[in-house]
Amino acid sequence: MQTIAIVSQKGGAGKTTLAVNLAAEAARSCVSLIIDTDPQATASRWAQWRGGGDPEVVDCGAPSLLAGKLAKAAELGADLAVIDTPPHADAMARQAARLADLLLIPCRPRAFDLAAIEATAELVRSSRKPAFVVFNAGPPRAPHIYREAASVIGGEFGLQIAPVVLPERAAFHHSAAAGRTAPEHDAQGKAADEIRALWAWTREQLGVSTVTQAVMA
Ligand SMILES: Nc1ncnc2c1ncn2[C@@H]1O[C@H](COP(=O)(O)OP(=O)(O)O)[C@@H](O)[C@H]1O
Ligand SMILES: [Mg+2]
Repeated sequence: MQTIAIVSQKGGAGKTTLAVNLAAEAARSCVSLIIDTDPQATASRWAQWRGGGDPEVVDCGAPSLLAGKLAKAAELGADLAVIDTPPHADAMARQAARLADLLLIPCRPRAFDLAAIEATAELVRSSRKPAFVVFNAGPPRAPHIYREAASVIGGEFGLQIAPVVLPERAAFHHSAAAGRTAPEHDAQGKAADEIRALWAWTREQLGVSTVTQAVMA
């Protein structure tokens, strides 16, 4: 089983949005689940609105429980676990980073958000795990904003940047309220293309097996 931790010390960066969209996209071709470590339990609420089905969302209330939850998921045959983490919760985010194979850091390409990456960058460095910032909820067509943001992220904080950007799209709002994802809400939409592209890239980083898909097909 491969594990992704979605981390950012900033609230509203897009952690839960990224977690549910990536895990559900992954669930189309492998067994994936979300581990919700945020006391606000947004991913768990999303699962309730969804009314069941994949990906399963499992609660984890304390950092000391996380390794056991991951081990259990692997034992039950999961291919991918996506850990959604809380903001301002160092111990939980650190434990998630320690146990993950890959860290994704959603970040709005805006000055205050970029400045707030510092705390997350330190957490990421100390984990020594592969980590990428995913620009999220910025303007769809403003290449200069992403260029400037990339120079701050790469230059000041030494973080890598995922090649796929998730701009601000209404599909993320509409889908979340219905316990769905952007691709489920509108499979032909731009947000759907972006999530598919992000998952394809993420999967390459992880080398997630497609054996399950072949067995299930
Ligand atoms: N790319 C996006 N486009 C539009 N809305 C977004 C996008 N990403 C996140 N949002 C919205 O921003 C808010 C915060 O996102 P959320 O994923 O809950 O952040 P976090 O988990 O980091 O606190 C939510 O209302 C979500 O629907
Ligand atoms: Mg959240």
